[in-house]
Amino acid sequence: MLIKTSRDISESEVTDKKLYLKRREFIKRTTALVGVPAMTGLFMSEVLAGEKLTSVKKSSFSTDEAMTPFDKISHYTNFYEFSTDKEKPAELARDFKTRPWKIAIEGEVKKPTAYDFEDFIKPHALEERIYRLRCVEAWSMVVPWVGIPLASIIKRLEPTSRAKYIQFETLYSPLQMPGQRPGFFGSGLDWPYVEGLRMDEAMHPLTLLAVGLYGEVLPNQNGAPIRLVVPWKYGFKSIKSIVKIRFLEKQPITTWSAMNPREYGFYANVNPNVDHPRWSQKQERRIGSDNWFAPKKKTLMFNGYADQVAGLYSGMDLAKFI
Ligand code: MTE
Repeated sequence: MLIKTSRDISESEVTDKKLYLKRREFIKRTTALVGVPAMTGLFMSEVLAGEKLTSVKKSSFSTDEAMTPFDKISHYTNFYEFSTDKEKPAELARDFKTRPWKIAIEGEVKKPTAYDFEDFIKPHALEERIYRLRCVEAWSMVVPWVGIPLASIIKRLEPTSRAKYIQFETLYSPLQMPGQRPGFFGSGLDWPYVEGLRMDEAMHPLTLLAVGLYGEVLPNQNGAPIRLVVPWKYGFKSIKSIVKIRFLEKQPITTWSAMNPREYGFYANVNPNVDHPRWSQKQERRIGSDNWFAPKKKTLMFNGYADQVAGLYSGMDLAKFI
């Protein structure tokens, strides 16, 4: 992970939500004028980001910690397909085309199928899950995601008994994603971004496929139209803008561990007792509520979800399986 020494973004650099909504309102009105059939795909994605999601159930898995403001969540992002700079994806992903969007289901599954995004999520109820997000770079947020438990989706897809792992893949589209183009200022990552989980981790009730945050459709820079959220693991496991889900017999390759296995493992469980080779993981900076000089928070084992998930790793040496 490229650790930036730059300061946190200041309030004035963050798009004011009123301005942001005004712009959306303008787009909606213009859309109404030109009529839906006349819209191009790019225009369509503009209209969808920020739209209210309805019939969202609350969840007992939510934390009651103070939520990170929307502007911080949407303007302090890691989305290397657009930029390694945290503030830039909000701007660079503005016209990212999230409709039409296909999700291909492959591998050890009853019926490999490519779904339209809408058909993929339609059979499921949406839930709000307010989770802590802990990045491997030692910062954290509290995010009110809206999504579907991955377990319900997996059950519907009916993997075979050989499926022991699941791999996710992000869209590959260098035309839309400047960070995927070859060049000197790239991140050095191999594209497309891939991530994976063991099947029992994927089936855990905390694991979510998110389609929204703060009750609205996901902003493009946060991984629209659909991204993974695994709250007890470092944020890089929570892969964005998913186009493929593969059921596998063997542990899959994952982007960051392929890049540097000594620094980023397959498991990537939040663990204050195992430091990153280049920095401590004992503490974290909570984005939004503080600044670089404010006291840090103690990082908790499994990001505070130990009661729910520690059993998944009993007997495993977590200093070895990082
Ligand atoms: N997914 C893709 N495809 N590309 C990325 O660069 N960054 C990861 C993860 N998912 C990333 C990604 C990292 S390092 C983190 S911390 C989280 O997304 C950040 O999610 P957020 O930007 O919505 O807070």
